[in-house]
Amino acid sequence: MKSTMHPVNYVDRTLTCDGVALADIAAKTGTPCYVYSAATILANYRAYDDTLQGIPHTICYAAKANGNLAILRLLAQAGAGFDIVSGGELHRVLKAGGNPAKVVFSGVGKTSEEIDAALAAGIFAFNCESEPELALVDALAHRRGIRARIAIRVNPDVSAATHAHIATGSLGHKFGVDIGQAEAVYERARHYENLSLEGVSCHIGSQQFDFDPMMQAANRVLELIAVLRAKDFEIRHVDLGGGLGITYRPDEPAPPISEFAMALREKAAGLGLHLFLEPGRSIVGNAGVLLTRVLYRKKSGDKEFVVVDAAMNDLIRPALYDAHHEILPLRATSSGCGLRADVVGPVCESGDFLAQDRQMPEVFPGDFLAVCTVGAYGFAQASNYNARPRPAEVLIENGAWRVIRKRETFEDLIKGEE
Ligand code: LLP
Repeated sequence: MKSTMHPVNYVDRTLTCDGVALADIAAKTGTPCYVYSAATILANYRAYDDTLQGIPHTICYAAKANGNLAILRLLAQAGAGFDIVSGGELHRVLKAGGNPAKVVFSGVGKTSEEIDAALAAGIFAFNCESEPELALVDALAHRRGIRARIAIRVNPDVSAATHAHIATGSLGHKFGVDIGQAEAVYERARHYENLSLEGVSCHIGSQQFDFDPMMQAANRVLELIAVLRAKDFEIRHVDLGGGLGITYRPDEPAPPISEFAMALREKAAGLGLHLFLEPGRSIVGNAGVLLTRVLYRKKSGDKEFVVVDAAMNDLIRPALYDAHHEILPLRATSSGCGLRADVVGPVCESGDFLAQDRQMPEVFPGDFLAVCTVGAYGFAQASNYNARPRPAEVLIENGAWRVIRKRETFEDLIKGEE
């Protein structure tokens, strides 16, 4: 039985992922390098899908969490739909063989080019976030002589217990239409001849452990649906977003996907609604590790530093959200956790750290480490800051591994520049 935390474990002191020694990957691919477990991604997807068997549902994986084509293809082949937020994500999903009829398009700032591309592709629905956006989708659908299916994304005014940067469901956030205004907005949108107002959507934030705010949001959305139906809107689907948290710290276990999906199932079942969900992190987050190599040890004042070859440009979550990621040596020692150190990268900022004041095993230059639980919003938020090529990505599938994205080269860094 695998840990629910991540798919890596020690076999004879060697850290492995799905039976593959991570040191082999580090040696052959170099570091830094993201490694993902296909089996974990699929197990997470199936935990949603299996729990919702028997009611009409579509799991729209939030491509923003990890948009690598191989991962999108894996999920597309398993039957997933996709939640996209840009023309670029639409392009990726289509390239990966995703079914456009299972795509929902969220986001507060869709451009006319992006909307038109989504209409051309025949996506399932737009999660519209404002009245001017409704007008634009209507106009563009009219030009194409088609009707666009719409769910208005409502802001249910429920505060998610999560980091402020990733909470989205309270009034004053830029997302959605205030729930108090929603009925009037649907009424005003009735006259648009090229829109089918068939759904309601919401998403209140990410990395949530407490179901209460999400259930409260679902209740408010379902109440709104009842009101809209009473006014003869043919509401056929509800999209309850993503947001389930994952286990980053062993002592803070996340609720299982099946429990979360069951709670939502119980809300939506029997109402004649097709249920859409948009999970990102809970599908890919625990499936990835970032391999990195220790370059130096040093001290400053009382502090110890382990300088590694991965940095904030490769994984920005610690710097941006104070996120905790477990760090494990690829070769376990028997020395215990005798070191207290900051694990930092080569980028020229004091905010460049992967861990702070971390109690960890003694490590030395040349040792390899795995930064855990980075499958979501890891590579996806990587940049070329400090002119650092972005890392390679590797997928382990059926006991074998392959590079699914080459490490960038210096030539890649200057591509398109004069
Ligand atoms: N649907 C919408 C409309 C979203 O905005 C998001 C995430 C999701 C679905 C997927 O949420 P998930 O299931 O992954 O929680 N970079 C941050 C997370 C940003 C989340 C943005 N929206 C992080 O690294 O924690």
